[in-house]
Amino acid sequence: MILVTGATGSIGRHLVRRLAAENVEFTALVRTAAAGRSLGCPYVVGDFDDPDSLAAAFGPRGRVSRLLLNSAGAVPVPDGTPQPMVRRQLAAIDAARAAGVERVVKVSAFGAAPGGRLAVGAHGEIERYLKRSELSWSMLRPNGFMQNFATGDGGYVRDGALVGHFGAGRVAYVDARDIAACAAVLLTGDRGAGEVFVPTGPEALTHREIARRLGLGFRDIPAAEAAAELRVRGLPDGFVADLVWLWEDMAAGGLSVLTEDVRALTGRTPRTFDDWLADGRP
Ligand SMILES: NC(=O)c1ccc[n+]([C@@H]2O[C@H](COP(=O)([O-])OP(=O)(O)OC[C@H]3O[C@@H](n4cnc5c(N)ncnc54)[C@H](OP(=O)(O)O)[C@@H]3O)[C@@H](O)[C@H]2O)c1
Repeated sequence: MILVTGATGSIGRHLVRRLAAENVEFTALVRTAAAGRSLGCPYVVGDFDDPDSLAAAFGPRGRVSRLLLNSAGAVPVPDGTPQPMVRRQLAAIDAARAAGVERVVKVSAFGAAPGGRLAVGAHGEIERYLKRSELSWSMLRPNGFMQNFATGDGGYVRDGALVGHFGAGRVAYVDARDIAACAAVLLTGDRGAGEVFVPTGPEALTHREIARRLGLGFRDIPAAEAAAELRVRGLPDGFVADLVWLWEDMAAGGLSVLTEDVRALTGRTPRTFDDWLADGRP
């Protein structure tokens, strides 16, 4: 039995569809019964913030053999406050150990490292905790998701233009459907124990090229202007500094690397940004 967390999210919703189509035995952990019904697959209601519900979701020892560990990424928190994702995923790892889970497949992030900023640091800490547990693990460290341009996480849009401090840096955005496909392989087969995979798209695009594909203009703004715009939106200073750091990393090409990991795991070429658009931005 596989337990899929983050099942309503950008990766999870594709993963549960894929596992159902493959007749794999799994349960989705969801926070409300309504969410479970809308997924239309077996589900259990639980919350990473509620240890009793987590223990109940795993059920008797040995029932769940594999866990897809995935939850929301970095969120604005007051300066000096840890990301809640760390507390939540550490609790899920403890629950998995207590329940006798054999392998955890963790959705992490590109470049994850303890002490890093935003999700990079949070995932680094969680990875370290998981590696030190007795559990078998596989890490998926994807690049940015194409889906960010449907949720609004890909930069903000003003007056018909994609706005950010992106420069001409290229980013190898990946379709969350391909991450789900990688996760399915790791959850259902023998491959990947103790290995780190970095799913990326097949091409690295500039944000100007992405904006054109989205039918938007493009306005690149200096770091200080980007920070001022984010502060006006009420974001805490530390979070603003972290976001601007992320944009500067993108501008410098830090997220442009292309890997073969999607093909190596799934046997197929990762989807392009144009594929994602043509399929209706799923
Ligand atoms: N977006 C990117 O570009 C990117 C790139 C690399 C790595 N990542 C990582 O990928 C992961 C997924 O990010 P995402 O932005 O795409 O989020 P998402 O998967 O679309 O949504 C988060 C999921 O976690 C669930 N969740 C949140 N809090 C929970 C809790 N307390 N208990 C149980 N479930 C909870 C949500 O359930 P509800 O529906 O109930 O809210 C939802 O299913 C994050 O760890 C992120 O750091 C993202």
